[in-house]
Amino acid sequence: MTALAHVSPESKARKFDIASVRADFPILRRLVHEKPLTYLDTAASAQKPQSVIDVIKNQYENEYANVHRGAYWLSETLTTKYEDARESVRAFLNAKSDKEIIFTKGATESINLVASSFGRSLKVGDEIVITGLEHHSNIVPWQMLRNQCGVELKVAPVTDDGDVTLDSISKLLSPKTKLVAVAHVSNALGTVLPIKDIAKLAHDAGARILIDGCQGIVHEDVDVQDMDCDFYAFSGHKIYGPNGIGVLYGKEDILEEMPPYQGGGEMISTVTFDHSEWAELPAKFEAGTPPIVPAVGLGEAIRYVSAFDAASVSAHEKALLAYGTEQLQAVEGVTLIGTAERKTAVLSFVLEGAHPHDLATILDRCGVCVRAGHHCAQPLMDRFGVSATVRASFGLYNTQDEVDVLIEALGRAREILC
Ligand code: ALA
Repeated sequence: MTALAHVSPESKARKFDIASVRADFPILRRLVHEKPLTYLDTAASAQKPQSVIDVIKNQYENEYANVHRGAYWLSETLTTKYEDARESVRAFLNAKSDKEIIFTKGATESINLVASSFGRSLKVGDEIVITGLEHHSNIVPWQMLRNQCGVELKVAPVTDDGDVTLDSISKLLSPKTKLVAVAHVSNALGTVLPIKDIAKLAHDAGARILIDGCQGIVHEDVDVQDMDCDFYAFSGHKIYGPNGIGVLYGKEDILEEMPPYQGGGEMISTVTFDHSEWAELPAKFEAGTPPIVPAVGLGEAIRYVSAFDAASVSAHEKALLAYGTEQLQAVEGVTLIGTAERKTAVLSFVLEGAHPHDLATILDRCGVCVRAGHHCAQPLMDRFGVSATVRASFGLYNTQDEVDVLIEALGRAREILC
């Protein structure tokens, strides 16, 4: 079952037509360096459809107030919208309850929340298993925890094609393992990990599992009950929503046991100078004024993507990946990094004789936006013996013509650099 499958059937009526999809994204009509914008950096941040932009503008223009605090119409209206957005996220993930959806400012904060709160129950000798393809945000919080309380970090190795085998994860699990924290999809390579199988391995070992879903939420089916994950973290800006909003899904019974992450307004039921008591979920984890308008914008982004049949979007993105892979591999001097069988929406590569940053600068002059660097995955770059790659990544609005523009621009860059 797909995440999109949980949205009401009447909202899934829109045919996936690439021309009309592109028309939804105003930025795609602009020129950059007098060239049409070819945006191939959705893995870093996705562009926004007009409906999301309109919702944000409308909130600030017509319906803005703080939430959960005002006994007046404006505040009540926005509170309803904020909570409706939570319900949209719940339905999208197929979570059991709204109490399991915590709004944060991004996936990084979601993971840090788990490290700071769930992490407090860990002690010297406990182990956390991650993989070698993690983003820094799913490495560094666990290292910080290790430095604080003496847990050990075990890392499942990455294969030559950029994958992680179940066997290699399995070998690291023991009764000491308390958490397995893995990416759903590698941001740097596009490798899709078999999350459901990894969750089973983790649970069989008595551990919890956290999934960094930053890329997975955009390109893969996400059903937190079917996957049986304990935590799923993602950012709104990658799924065509605003930045400044993220989500932590957590199973209710686990979140109930966890202490608050931050103290402040709205996360309490009572406060005296001697003692405070916590509010119910999800408020217990939402101290202070939350990212109100970004949450409402995320709700709209979810409505936007949910309107399409998930299989059509997936087929479109798979066709782009297959075409892009074939075209790139035909360019002399290009080495693709990350060729796993289960892969989505990302082409990471190096060009012999050219530094990725120089390459990206020349591509930019042709209107092509790609990311060059270590993609916040330095250990993964080390694994492949490179300091950086060029990464072209796709969203639902990209086309084969744009892949052709990339390849042509790459040809020009080769002439200049190689
Ligand atoms: N995590 C984002 C990326 O992969 C920023 O580019």
